[in-house]
Amino acid sequence: MARFALFSRLFLDFYPLIFTKSQSRVGLYSELLPQVKAVLEGEEDLIAKQANLCAMIKEVLNFLWVGFYRVIDQQLILGPYQGPLACSRIEFGKGVCGAAWKLKETIIVPNVNEFEGHIACSSLSQSEIVVPFFDSKRNVISLLDIDSAQLNDFGPTDQQALEEMRNYF
Ligand code: SME
Repeated sequence: MARFALFSRLFLDFYPLIFTKSQSRVGLYSELLPQVKAVLEGEEDLIAKQANLCAMIKEVLNFLWVGFYRVIDQQLILGPYQGPLACSRIEFGKGVCGAAWKLKETIIVPNVNEFEGHIACSSLSQSEIVVPFFDSKRNVISLLDIDSAQLNDFGPTDQQALEEMRNYF
């Protein structure tokens, strides 16, 4: 048992390759979730967790952009991410991220071109999901922002899986 624990720790530390047999979104998430849980629950540092979560989601689901914005001094400031260059700061209530911060709820935008005030970091972005993360007093402390190059790419399956990942922090 101890040998297996050591092996899995070494495996995760030095060879964090995610392999998938599934093609469907539901199948991909069901393979991804236990791996995310294992990686995140084995780490205490917030930035390390955010960075690895972005890498794992990007690798398995291949979205255009996966990243965190952190609430610092009443602004959102860019955190760990995978994907094209992004804007560094977002004001409260602005864009999809600012709106999810204000609402304190996950927002799914099927077509970003129809979302008033959407902040376009990449012209390739077509749809988006933003999931707020909370502290113990339910203040928003960060947001996970995922952009897709496909229209209408996010739904309840994504929301449920990403909100589950939030529990591993
Ligand atoms: N689309 C976001 C801005 C951040 S970038 O997409 C990375 C928004 O409107 O909040």
